[in-house]
Amino acid sequence: MNNWLSTGFHGTQNYEIMHFGFQTVINVISDQRGIFCGDNLFTYNKNLSFLEDPVFMESFQKHCTNEMDRSLAWRIATVLWGFRRGLTLEGDFVECACYKGVTARVICDNVDFASRTDRHYYLYDLFDHDPTMPHLPMIEQSTQLYGQVRQKFAPFPNVTVTRGRVPDVLAEVSPKKIAFMHLDLNNAESEIGALEVLFDRMVPGAVLVLDDYGWLDYRPQKLAEDPWFLKRGYHVLELPTGQGLVIK
Ligand SMILES: C[S@@+](CC[C@H](N)C(=O)[O-])C[C@H]1O[C@@H](n2cnc3c(N)ncnc32)[C@H](O)[C@@H]1O
Repeated sequence: MNNWLSTGFHGTQNYEIMHFGFQTVINVISDQRGIFCGDNLFTYNKNLSFLEDPVFMESFQKHCTNEMDRSLAWRIATVLWGFRRGLTLEGDFVECACYKGVTARVICDNVDFASRTDRHYYLYDLFDHDPTMPHLPMIEQSTQLYGQVRQKFAPFPNVTVTRGRVPDVLAEVSPKKIAFMHLDLNNAESEIGALEVLFDRMVPGAVLVLDDYGWLDYRPQKLAEDPWFLKRGYHVLELPTGQGLVIK
C-alpha cells in the first residue's frame, strides 16, 4: 500500500469541494505514490513507513473503524515510536486522556504489551463529558464509555483504566517513574496540571507527545506550554501532524 487517503478532516464546511481539490492536485502529481490525505494533512512523495508495517496496519485497521479514527494513522505511528523508545528505558507508560482507548489499544497490540509483565500502562479519562470543563464534548463520550474502555483492555492485566479528572485523579493512582507520556486533554489547565505532577517523574530520554500542541483550535495549550517548558530549558518540536514532541 503506497497511499493513505481518509476523508477525516476538521473544520471544513464542504468536504466534497475539498475532495475535488485534493483529487485535482493528485491528478497533476507525476509520481502518485506516498500520498497522505487526512487529519488536516495533505502530503505526497513520502515513505509513509507505517504503511509498510503489517502489524501496525492490521491493529490500526481493526481498532480505527470510523473515518476520523482512520485519519489518525500518522499521529498514532508517532505515539508508537515514543512508546517503543520508552520500552528501552526504566518506568511505566501514561496517557491523559484515552477517550475510547483507540490509540492505546493499537499501541498495546503492536508491542504485545500483555507480555510486558514488568511494565504498566496508566490510562485516564473523564469518559462522560463534564460541562464545567472548558473543552468541547467528544461525540462518543457517555456514562457507558468507562465500562467499554475497561472491556477493551481486559486482555491486558497490566493496563489500568482510571476514571477521573486530571490532575486530581493522579493522587489516587499514578506511576513513580515514567518511560513515555501522551497528553491529549484538549485544554490547557488540565495539561499544565498533568505536567506539574508528572513531568518530573519522566526518566531522562523519555518521550512526551502533546497531541494538541500544534492545532490552532487548541492554541491556548501551546501558549501555556511554551513558557512552562522554556522555564525548564526545553523547546517543544511542532510536528506536521499537529503533535508536539519533547524528549526529557
Ligand atoms: C481527544 S480525546 C483523547 C483521545 C485519545 N488520546 C486517543 O488518542 O484515542 C480528549 C479526552 O480528554 C478528556 N479530558 C479532558 N480533560 C480531562 C481531564 N481534566 N481529566 C480527564 N480527562 C479529560 C475528555 O474526556 C476526552 O475524552
